[in-house]
Amino acid sequence: MIKQFFWNPRLKSVKNKHVVITGGSSGIGKCVAIIAARHGANVTIIARDVQRLETVKNEILHACENKDVQRVEYLSLDIGANYENVEKALADLEKTMGPIYMLVNCAGVAICGKIEDTTVDSLDKMIHINLLGTYYCIKAVVQRMKASREGAIVVTSSQAAFLDTPGFAVEELSKPLETRLISQTSTLVRPEVVADKLFKDALAGKFFSSVGLEGFILTTLCSGMSPFKSISELFLQASLMGLLRIVSAFYLISFEKIILNCMRTRDKNKKSE
Ligand SMILES: NC(=O)c1ccc[n+]([C@@H]2O[C@H](COP(=O)([O-])OP(=O)(O)OC[C@H]3O[C@@H](n4cnc5c(N)ncnc54)[C@H](OP(=O)(O)O)[C@@H]3O)[C@@H](O)[C@H]2O)c1
Repeated sequence: MIKQFFWNPRLKSVKNKHVVITGGSSGIGKCVAIIAARHGANVTIIARDVQRLETVKNEILHACENKDVQRVEYLSLDIGANYENVEKALADLEKTMGPIYMLVNCAGVAICGKIEDTTVDSLDKMIHINLLGTYYCIKAVVQRMKASREGAIVVTSSQAAFLDTPGFAVEELSKPLETRLISQTSTLVRPEVVADKLFKDALAGKFFSSVGLEGFILTTLCSGMSPFKSISELFLQASLMGLLRIVSAFYLISFEKIILNCMRTRDKNKKSE
Protein backbone atom coordinates (compact mmCIF):
# COMPACT_ATOMS: atom_id res chain seq x y z
CA MET A 1 0.00 0.00 0.00
CA ILE A 2 2.76 2.43 0.98
CA LYS A 3 4.69 1.45 -2.12
CA GLN A 4 1.66 2.19 -4.25
CA PHE A 5 1.24 5.54 -2.51
CA PHE A 6 4.76 6.60 -3.36
CA TRP A 7 4.69 5.13 -6.82
CA ASN A 8 5.01 7.99 -9.19
CA PRO A 9 6.16 6.92 -12.64
CA ARG A 10 9.35 8.69 -13.65
CA LEU A 11 9.16 10.02 -17.18
CA LYS A 12 12.49 8.97 -18.54
CA SER A 13 12.74 10.66 -21.89
CA VAL A 14 10.83 12.59 -24.54
CA LYS A 15 13.05 11.26 -27.33
CA ASN A 16 10.89 10.49 -30.40
CA LYS A 17 7.81 11.40 -28.37
CA HIS A 18 5.30 14.11 -29.24
CA VAL A 19 5.46 17.23 -27.05
CA VAL A 20 2.80 19.91 -27.53
CA ILE A 21 3.23 23.41 -26.14
CA THR A 22 0.41 25.94 -26.13
CA GLY A 23 1.77 29.48 -26.23
CA GLY A 24 4.87 27.93 -27.82
CA SER A 25 5.54 30.96 -30.03
CA SER A 26 6.74 33.22 -27.20
CA GLY A 27 8.28 33.48 -23.74
CA ILE A 28 8.33 30.40 -21.50
CA GLY A 29 6.45 28.24 -24.06
CA LYS A 30 9.00 28.94 -26.79
CA CYS A 31 11.88 28.07 -24.43
CA VAL A 32 10.17 24.79 -23.43
CA ALA A 33 9.69 23.93 -27.13
CA ILE A 34 13.40 24.48 -27.82
CA ILE A 35 14.41 22.34 -24.83
CA ALA A 36 12.05 19.54 -25.94
CA ALA A 37 13.60 19.65 -29.43
CA ARG A 38 17.10 19.44 -27.91
CA HIS A 39 15.92 16.32 -26.05
CA GLY A 40 14.91 14.64 -29.31
CA ALA A 41 11.13 15.17 -29.16
CA ASN A 42 8.73 15.80 -32.03
CA VAL A 43 7.38 19.22 -31.18
CA THR A 44 4.15 21.06 -31.95
CA ILE A 45 3.67 24.67 -30.88
CA ILE A 46 0.21 26.20 -30.63
CA ALA A 47 -0.66 29.92 -30.77
CA ARG A 48 -2.72 32.24 -33.00
CA ASP A 49 -0.25 34.41 -34.93
CA VAL A 50 0.87 32.34 -37.95
CA GLN A 51 3.83 34.55 -38.84
CA ARG A 52 5.31 34.26 -35.34
CA LEU A 53 4.62 30.51 -35.30
CA GLU A 54 6.45 30.10 -38.62
CA THR A 55 9.51 32.02 -37.37
CA VAL A 56 9.66 30.11 -34.07
CA LYS A 57 9.16 26.77 -35.86
CA ASN A 58 12.43 27.45 -37.73
CA GLU A 59 14.22 28.27 -34.46
CA ILE A 60 12.97 25.01 -32.94
CA LEU A 61 14.09 23.07 -36.04
CA HIS A 62 17.60 24.45 -35.52
CA ALA A 63 17.55 23.19 -31.93
CA CYS A 64 16.61 19.59 -32.87
CA GLU A 65 18.94 16.88 -31.64
CA ASN A 66 18.50 14.96 -34.90
CA LYS A 67 17.07 17.08 -37.72
CA ASP A 68 16.66 14.07 -40.06
CA VAL A 69 14.32 12.23 -37.74
CA GLN A 70 12.55 14.82 -35.61
CA ARG A 71 9.46 16.70 -36.76
CA VAL A 72 8.38 20.19 -35.77
CA GLU A 73 4.91 21.52 -36.50
CA TYR A 74 2.74 24.42 -35.53
CA LEU A 75 -0.98 24.82 -35.10
CA SER A 76 -2.68 28.18 -35.37
CA LEU A 77 -5.54 27.87 -32.92
CA ASP A 78 -7.39 30.07 -30.46
CA ILE A 79 -7.47 27.63 -27.55
CA GLY A 80 -10.11 29.58 -25.63
CA ALA A 81 -12.67 30.11 -28.38
CA ASN A 82 -14.52 26.83 -28.57
CA TYR A 83 -14.05 23.32 -27.15
CA GLU A 84 -15.17 21.45 -30.30
CA ASN A 85 -12.51 23.27 -32.36
CA VAL A 86 -9.77 22.45 -29.85
CA GLU A 87 -10.84 18.81 -29.58
CA LYS A 88 -10.88 18.34 -33.35
CA ALA A 89 -7.60 20.20 -33.89
CA LEU A 90 -5.76 18.11 -31.27
CA ALA A 91 -7.27 14.82 -32.50
CA ASP A 92 -6.19 15.68 -36.08
CA LEU A 93 -2.76 16.68 -34.79
CA GLU A 94 -2.32 13.32 -33.05
CA LYS A 95 -3.14 11.55 -36.33
CA THR A 96 -0.28 13.31 -38.13
CA MET A 97 2.28 13.81 -35.33
CA GLY A 98 1.53 10.86 -33.08
CA PRO A 99 -0.01 10.59 -29.61
CA ILE A 100 0.74 13.48 -27.28
CA TYR A 101 3.21 12.42 -24.58
CA MET A 102 3.59 15.80 -22.93
CA LEU A 103 1.21 18.76 -23.02
CA VAL A 104 2.67 22.00 -21.69
CA ASN A 105 0.07 24.74 -21.21
CA CYS A 106 1.82 28.09 -21.54
CA ALA A 107 -0.74 30.10 -23.54
CA GLY A 108 -2.07 32.90 -21.43
CA VAL A 109 -2.56 36.60 -21.00
CA ALA A 110 -2.38 38.83 -17.94
CA ILE A 111 -4.39 42.03 -17.93
CA CYS A 112 -3.72 43.73 -14.61
CA GLY A 113 -5.54 46.48 -12.81
CA LYS A 114 -7.34 47.38 -9.61
CA ILE A 115 -10.66 45.56 -9.57
CA GLU A 116 -12.59 48.83 -9.92
CA ASP A 117 -10.54 49.79 -13.00
CA THR A 118 -10.75 46.46 -14.81
CA THR A 119 -13.46 45.78 -17.37
CA VAL A 120 -15.72 42.75 -17.44
CA ASP A 121 -14.47 42.13 -20.98
CA SER A 122 -10.83 41.88 -19.87
CA LEU A 123 -11.72 39.38 -17.14
CA ASP A 124 -13.83 37.43 -19.63
CA LYS A 125 -10.85 37.33 -22.02
CA MET A 126 -8.50 36.04 -19.31
CA ILE A 127 -10.99 33.38 -18.21
CA HIS A 128 -11.43 32.22 -21.80
CA ILE A 129 -7.72 31.96 -22.59
CA ASN A 130 -6.08 31.12 -19.26
CA LEU A 131 -8.75 28.95 -17.66
CA LEU A 132 -11.05 27.57 -20.36
CA GLY A 133 -8.30 27.32 -22.98
CA THR A 134 -6.14 25.25 -20.62
CA TYR A 135 -9.14 23.12 -19.61
CA TYR A 136 -10.13 22.53 -23.26
CA CYS A 137 -6.63 21.37 -24.22
CA ILE A 138 -6.30 19.07 -21.21
CA LYS A 139 -9.80 17.63 -21.70
CA ALA A 140 -9.04 16.97 -25.37
CA VAL A 141 -5.93 14.86 -24.66
CA VAL A 142 -6.26 13.39 -21.17
CA GLN A 143 -8.35 10.34 -22.01
CA ARG A 144 -5.93 9.06 -24.64
CA MET A 145 -3.01 9.79 -22.30
CA LYS A 146 -4.65 7.83 -19.48
CA ALA A 147 -5.42 4.93 -21.81
CA SER A 148 -1.76 4.73 -22.86
CA ARG A 149 -0.70 4.90 -19.15
CA GLU A 150 2.01 7.43 -19.86
CA GLY A 151 2.38 11.14 -20.29
CA ALA A 152 2.57 14.46 -18.49
CA ILE A 153 0.49 17.61 -18.36
CA VAL A 154 2.06 20.87 -17.23
CA VAL A 155 0.08 23.96 -16.23
CA THR A 156 1.85 27.29 -15.76
CA SER A 157 0.66 29.94 -13.34
CA SER A 158 1.88 33.09 -11.71
CA GLN A 159 4.18 33.11 -8.68
CA ALA A 160 5.69 35.97 -6.69
CA ALA A 161 8.72 35.95 -8.98
CA PHE A 162 8.28 37.52 -12.38
CA LEU A 163 9.85 36.88 -15.75
CA ASP A 164 11.25 39.00 -18.44
CA THR A 165 9.20 37.74 -21.32
CA PRO A 166 7.15 39.58 -23.97
CA GLY A 167 4.07 38.67 -21.92
CA PHE A 168 5.60 40.32 -18.87
CA ALA A 169 6.24 43.53 -20.82
CA VAL A 170 2.54 43.68 -21.83
CA GLU A 171 1.49 42.89 -18.26
CA GLU A 172 3.62 45.79 -16.96
CA LEU A 173 1.58 48.28 -19.02
CA SER A 174 -1.64 47.49 -17.18
CA LYS A 175 -0.22 46.96 -13.67
CA PRO A 176 -1.25 49.43 -10.97
CA LEU A 177 1.77 51.13 -9.32
CA GLU A 178 1.32 49.06 -6.13
CA THR A 179 1.41 45.77 -8.05
CA ARG A 180 4.45 46.89 -10.05
CA LEU A 181 6.35 47.82 -6.86
CA ILE A 182 5.41 44.54 -5.16
CA SER A 183 6.55 42.59 -8.26
CA GLN A 184 9.86 44.43 -8.13
CA THR A 185 10.61 42.96 -4.69
CA SER A 186 11.06 39.60 -6.49
CA THR A 187 14.04 38.45 -8.48
CA LEU A 188 13.90 38.77 -12.26
CA VAL A 189 14.08 35.30 -13.79
CA ARG A 190 14.85 34.53 -17.43
CA PRO A 191 12.22 32.43 -19.28
CA GLU A 192 14.98 29.95 -20.28
CA VAL A 193 15.64 29.24 -16.60
CA VAL A 194 11.94 28.69 -15.86
CA ALA A 195 11.51 26.51 -18.93
CA ASP A 196 14.54 24.39 -18.04
CA LYS A 197 13.31 23.81 -14.47
CA LEU A 198 9.74 23.17 -15.64
CA PHE A 199 10.91 20.59 -18.16
CA LYS A 200 13.18 18.75 -15.70
CA ASP A 201 10.48 18.69 -13.01
CA ALA A 202 7.88 17.44 -15.49
CA LEU A 203 10.19 14.60 -16.54
CA ALA A 204 10.76 13.76 -12.88
CA GLY A 205 7.00 13.66 -12.29
CA LYS A 206 7.08 16.45 -9.69
CA PHE A 207 3.77 18.04 -8.74
CA PHE A 208 5.16 21.58 -8.30
CA SER A 209 7.87 23.30 -10.26
CA SER A 210 9.10 26.67 -9.06
CA VAL A 211 12.11 28.92 -9.44
CA GLY A 212 13.91 30.97 -6.81
CA LEU A 213 13.36 31.55 -3.12
CA GLU A 214 9.89 33.07 -3.49
CA GLY A 215 8.81 30.12 -5.63
CA PHE A 216 10.10 27.69 -3.00
CA ILE A 217 8.32 29.56 -0.18
CA LEU A 218 5.05 29.70 -2.10
CA THR A 219 5.02 26.07 -3.19
CA THR A 220 6.00 24.91 0.31
CA LEU A 221 3.25 27.00 1.91
CA CYS A 222 0.72 25.74 -0.65
CA SER A 223 1.81 22.10 -0.48
CA GLY A 224 -1.02 21.29 2.01
CA MET A 225 -2.79 18.23 0.59
CA SER A 226 -0.77 18.13 -2.64
CA PRO A 227 0.94 14.91 -3.76
CA PHE A 228 4.57 14.41 -2.70
CA LYS A 229 7.38 12.66 -4.51
CA SER A 230 9.49 11.38 -1.62
CA ILE A 231 9.55 11.09 2.18
CA SER A 232 12.32 13.70 2.36
CA GLU A 233 10.20 16.16 0.37
CA LEU A 234 7.22 15.51 2.67
CA PHE A 235 9.29 16.09 5.83
CA LEU A 236 10.94 19.19 4.41
CA GLN A 237 7.53 20.69 3.61
CA ALA A 238 6.02 19.68 6.97
CA SER A 239 8.92 21.09 8.97
CA LEU A 240 9.17 24.35 7.05
CA MET A 241 5.49 25.24 6.70
CA GLY A 242 5.10 26.91 10.13
CA LEU A 243 8.36 28.83 9.85
CA LEU A 244 7.60 29.97 6.31
CA ARG A 245 4.18 31.20 7.42
CA ILE A 246 6.06 33.61 9.73
CA VAL A 247 8.40 34.57 6.87
CA SER A 248 5.35 35.22 4.67
CA ALA A 249 4.08 37.68 7.30
CA PHE A 250 7.19 39.86 6.71
CA TYR A 251 6.52 39.82 2.97
CA LEU A 252 2.88 40.76 3.62
CA ILE A 253 3.83 43.60 5.96
CA SER A 254 6.25 45.02 3.37
CA PHE A 255 3.55 44.75 0.64
CA GLU A 256 1.09 46.53 2.95
CA LYS A 257 3.65 49.33 3.43
CA ILE A 258 3.99 49.72 -0.35
CA ILE A 259 0.21 49.95 -0.74
CA LEU A 260 -0.10 52.52 2.09
CA ASN A 261 2.74 54.63 0.66
CA CYS A 262 1.07 54.66 -2.77
CA MET A 263 -2.23 55.68 -1.15
CA ARG A 264 -0.59 58.51 0.82
CA THR A 265 1.27 59.79 -2.26
CA ARG A 266 -1.95 59.74 -4.26
CA ASP A 267 -3.83 61.63 -1.52
CA LYS A 268 -1.02 64.21 -1.29
CA ASN A 269 -1.05 64.73 -5.07
CA LYS A 270 -4.84 65.16 -5.02
CA LYS A 271 -4.64 67.78 -2.25
CA SER A 272 -1.93 69.75 -4.05
CA GLU A 273 -3.95 69.85 -7.31
N1 LIG B 1 5.82 36.47 -17.69
C1 LIG B 1 5.35 36.52 -16.47
O1 LIG B 1 5.63 37.43 -15.69
C2 LIG B 1 4.47 35.42 -15.96
C3 LIG B 1 4.39 35.24 -14.60
C4 LIG B 1 3.58 34.23 -14.14
C5 LIG B 1 2.84 33.45 -15.01
N2 LIG B 1 2.91 33.66 -16.33
C6 LIG B 1 2.07 32.83 -17.18
O2 LIG B 1 2.91 31.92 -17.89
C7 LIG B 1 2.40 31.74 -19.22
C8 LIG B 1 3.44 32.14 -20.23
O3 LIG B 1 3.79 33.48 -20.00
P1 LIG B 1 4.75 34.29 -21.00
O4 LIG B 1 5.02 35.59 -20.36
O5 LIG B 1 5.87 33.41 -21.42
O6 LIG B 1 3.75 34.50 -22.23
P2 LIG B 1 3.91 35.37 -23.58
O7 LIG B 1 5.31 35.66 -23.88
O8 LIG B 1 2.94 36.51 -23.50
O9 LIG B 1 3.33 34.33 -24.62
C9 LIG B 1 1.98 33.98 -24.60
C10 LIG B 1 1.77 32.92 -25.64
O10 LIG B 1 0.41 32.49 -25.60
C11 LIG B 1 -0.14 32.56 -26.91
N3 LIG B 1 -1.56 32.81 -26.79
C12 LIG B 1 -2.18 33.84 -26.17
N4 LIG B 1 -3.50 33.74 -26.30
C13 LIG B 1 -3.75 32.59 -26.97
C14 LIG B 1 -4.93 31.93 -27.40
N5 LIG B 1 -6.14 32.43 -27.17
N6 LIG B 1 -4.82 30.75 -28.06
C15 LIG B 1 -3.60 30.23 -28.31
N7 LIG B 1 -2.44 30.81 -27.93
C16 LIG B 1 -2.52 31.98 -27.27
C17 LIG B 1 0.63 33.71 -27.57
O11 LIG B 1 0.61 33.66 -28.99
P3 LIG B 1 -0.54 34.41 -29.88
O12 LIG B 1 -0.75 35.75 -29.27
O13 LIG B 1 0.01 34.41 -31.25
O14 LIG B 1 -1.75 33.55 -29.76
C18 LIG B 1 2.03 33.41 -27.06
O15 LIG B 1 2.61 32.36 -27.79
C19 LIG B 1 1.15 32.60 -19.31
O16 LIG B 1 0.02 31.80 -19.04
C20 LIG B 1 1.34 33.64 -18.25
O17 LIG B 1 0.10 34.16 -17.77
C21 LIG B 1 3.74 34.62 -16.81
